[in-house]
Amino acid sequence: MSGPVSGTNRSEAVWWQSGTVYQVYPRSFQDTDGDGVGDLRGITARLDYLAWLGVDAVWISPFYRSPMADFGYDVADYCAIDPLFGTLADFDTLIGEAHRRRLKVILDFVPNHSSIEHPWFVESRASRAARKRDWYIWRDAGPDGGPPNNWLSNFGGPAWTRDPATGQYYYHAFLPEQPDLNWRNPEVRAAMHDALRFWLDRGVDGFRVDVIWHLIKDEGFRDNPHNPDFEPHQAGINRFHQTYSCDRPEVLDVIAGMRAVLRDYGERVLIGEIYLPIERLMAYYGPELGGADLPFNFQLIQTPWRADAVAALVAEYEAALPEGGWPNWVLGNHDQPRIAARVGEAQERVAAMLLLTLRGTPTLYYGDEIGLGHVPVLPERAQDPWGRNEPGHGRDPERTPMQWEDAPNAGFTTGTPWLPLSADADRRNVETMRDDSRSILTLYRRLLSLRRDHPALSIGNWRNLTLDTDLAAEVFGFERFAGDETLRILLNFSTREWRVPLHERGAWTILLSTHAGRTGERVEGGLALGPDEGVILSPVGG
Ligand code: GLC
Repeated sequence: MSGPVSGTNRSEAVWWQSGTVYQVYPRSFQDTDGDGVGDLRGITARLDYLAWLGVDAVWISPFYRSPMADFGYDVADYCAIDPLFGTLADFDTLIGEAHRRRLKVILDFVPNHSSIEHPWFVESRASRAARKRDWYIWRDAGPDGGPPNNWLSNFGGPAWTRDPATGQYYYHAFLPEQPDLNWRNPEVRAAMHDALRFWLDRGVDGFRVDVIWHLIKDEGFRDNPHNPDFEPHQAGINRFHQTYSCDRPEVLDVIAGMRAVLRDYGERVLIGEIYLPIERLMAYYGPELGGADLPFNFQLIQTPWRADAVAALVAEYEAALPEGGWPNWVLGNHDQPRIAARVGEAQERVAAMLLLTLRGTPTLYYGDEIGLGHVPVLPERAQDPWGRNEPGHGRDPERTPMQWEDAPNAGFTTGTPWLPLSADADRRNVETMRDDSRSILTLYRRLLSLRRDHPALSIGNWRNLTLDTDLAAEVFGFERFAGDETLRILLNFSTREWRVPLHERGAWTILLSTHAGRTGERVEGGLALGPDEGVILSPVGG
């Protein structure tokens, strides 16, 4: 019944392999000064919660000085904290307090583009002869007098904006307020490496690098080819394949340069944000694994929520990993619809079990552990610039405030929250759910605790279970194993009950079920797997 073994045995795993990452979107985690926007002190105040939950590292989305055109993904100073979020002293406190609780801190690094207000860009746009002109990407108009080529912005419209001061166009893969830096320029690389060192010297444990596959563009700025499969409901950028605007081979050299900076500081992690198909994603581990430690794997977000599709994805991803490449998985982030909204309340529990039992580093998105779903945001309260440019693509519903207690604004702020809370915030909050043995929060905590206690789950190998065709269409089964321990995971993606045969190995114990009341149950010969149920099984006596 068992398929081939996949993956490498590791005798010693480093923290970012065995551990779990938790993403905080700082605007929405905890406000302490009543302005309706979260801050660094708020994160510090909630570190006990993160330790209680059982995660190992916290990745914080950007809090650098910024005019907030893209809520901090437009950086005006790579080495300063925006006053909205606090001060450097607040940051030092945060990192000290995190480390005291054995929590690692991962920063979001945004090197592809700066804010239009960054002094580098101000200097660059001043004249064609400016000393920093070449720090950004300037081009003359195309032959028709319009933009230099057909590249589009990820947030709608052209990716080139003409600057009247010099008559040239600058390139921006995102908003016009986010000009792309020229990573072919060694001075840019050196300045960015200095920014990395600034934070490493303050004790950070690693970086999640924003749109890392974008850093290098085609040297000849060739037009992107048309995408014949474009559909009108897609964002405009999909009219073209991004063949020349990103994922260029030279980017691996840039990433190796960043890795080299981190290497001087010991066990630091480099996570790269990369939206690419599996075969391209793997290239980002780099030659001889000198690339990103964890090229972010968004496949669970992009794959249809069916047992057979997810099983095929996991097998394909595992098989594609380069020797020594460590996997990673994630269900959501600040750019993607919430997992609870996508799969529904019954399946979100199966999703949690999947995320925390697959082989590889899981990243949890804040609020998923309380089952936050799509929180509707009225058009007049819309914040996300992408949604304003391209209606239907706004990311506000997945960025709403964390809900802590049954109190005004769920304890997030004493002011007016920048985005609304969910309608059921009086029940859907940490305080209410933490003592409820049936809550999704309790399930997440138990899963995290099991993952810590069982090396089979945290660093063990993975193998697929071959199930009968009917069963495999709706149930995904696999094993995790390390040393003498083998655990079996069965996940029912359907709303019907399945009987899963368990012939070999004798009796099993249910270590954890997504359904209340089954933990500790002994099963032999076969298991009745309930609708929308997931279980982790351990062989009795081994
Ligand atoms: C990344 C971020 C996203 C941001 C974009 C531009 O995709 O995750 O939030 O808008 O980069 O920086």
